[in-house]
Amino acid sequence: MVIGVPKEIKNNENRVALTPAGVAEFRRFGHTVYVQVNAGVESGFEDEEYIDAGAVMLPTIEDVYGISEMIMKVKEPIASEYNLIKEDQLLFTYFHFASSEELTHAMIERKAVCLAYETVEKTDRSLPLLIPMSEVAGRMAVQEGAKYLEKPQKGRGILLGGVPGVKPAHVLILGGGIVGTQAAKMAAGLGAHVTIMDISLPRLRYLSDIMPENVDTLMSNEYSIREAVKHSDLIIGAVLIPGAKAPHLITREMLKLMRPGTVLVDVAVDQGGCIETCVPTTHENPTYVIDNVVHYCVANMPGAVPYTSTVALTNATLTYALQLANKGWQKACRDNDELKRGLNVVNGKIVYKGVADAFGLPLNDVNELLQREEEEIDY
Ligand SMILES: NC(=O)c1ccc[n+]([C@@H]2O[C@H](COP(=O)([O-])OP(=O)(O)OC[C@H]3O[C@@H](n4cnc5c(N)ncnc54)[C@H](O)[C@@H]3O)[C@@H](O)[C@H]2O)c1
Repeated sequence: MVIGVPKEIKNNENRVALTPAGVAEFRRFGHTVYVQVNAGVESGFEDEEYIDAGAVMLPTIEDVYGISEMIMKVKEPIASEYNLIKEDQLLFTYFHFASSEELTHAMIERKAVCLAYETVEKTDRSLPLLIPMSEVAGRMAVQEGAKYLEKPQKGRGILLGGVPGVKPAHVLILGGGIVGTQAAKMAAGLGAHVTIMDISLPRLRYLSDIMPENVDTLMSNEYSIREAVKHSDLIIGAVLIPGAKAPHLITREMLKLMRPGTVLVDVAVDQGGCIETCVPTTHENPTYVIDNVVHYCVANMPGAVPYTSTVALTNATLTYALQLANKGWQKACRDNDELKRGLNVVNGKIVYKGVADAFGLPLNDVNELLQREEEEIDY
């Protein structure tokens, strides 16, 4: 198969969809890989490394789209890319269709095959191509929180781990999923006193078993949250209710209970945030202060660490991309339900319920469509 990797052009997106190691894997299976010049440079990968791994560099994004059967990207195509997409071309990237009607209609019109990272789903309902970004954001939440707790950043002026003879900081984590677990490990490793709250008792049992001594687990409810915020220095929002807006676990009125300089890092901001006073911010201007409480609400936290994020993402996407390249998307999706769940739009037809529902558009049966493709190929 001919695979193309364009340079990301969405504002502030520094990741790239394939590393030189990924190129070498495709080459091992006899595929051809075209990479746009400078595509990896913001993630720390020079053109020479891609060439050494067996890629052919192309000067423009038009060249890459024009020659490739499968386009591997990170972010959804933006308007200037729509016309470059060809009928039958396979696009493997994050799409988040339900949040953009314009993108959905554009992809229907282009008659491309859109396989979305975010809906590739395992039988246990986990989302293997979203997990790496939650891991990055969870670990980063503590790093950022520690920074904004410093006095010059308007924080309380407390060191997370304390020093001998001085108490460490208290870190409260709402939600003990992927983000919360990674955040807890980082904060505990730095010596902070950590409390994780979740509504799932099995999850709290698991966390209680694996976490170090300086991590407590607590059932999440309004009463416990209200008590805990009074003596927490850093509060990390990491809840998720799949398919729904995050609940406001910390209300505006609770800010008054917090000590001045408390830092809130609402990682769940991309789902509306679990802190009522949270509004999305950017890496250029990540924080604001309300009632003497510092809010950090960056919606694309992994974007600040493109090297780590690129490698983490491609570690997860590559095995799926290889299946698509080795078998063709039709057979790869017939053989692997995880990949099949990633199909959102196929040759102008919506095949993913969430996208059809979001815009009241007709839903097509993905199995029928794959069956038809098979018959056409056999014929
Ligand atoms: N800002 C960013 O850059 C960024 C990056 C990655 C992920 N995220 C977001 O972070 C959030 C968490 O992601 P995740 O991968 O950890 O999800 P997850 O599903 O692994 O974990 C969510 C946890 O929240 C718990 N929960 C639900 N309701 C709760 C409540 N009322 N109180 C306490 N806990 C509750 C669930 O039981 C679950 O354990 C999501 O909104 C995700 O989109 C943001």
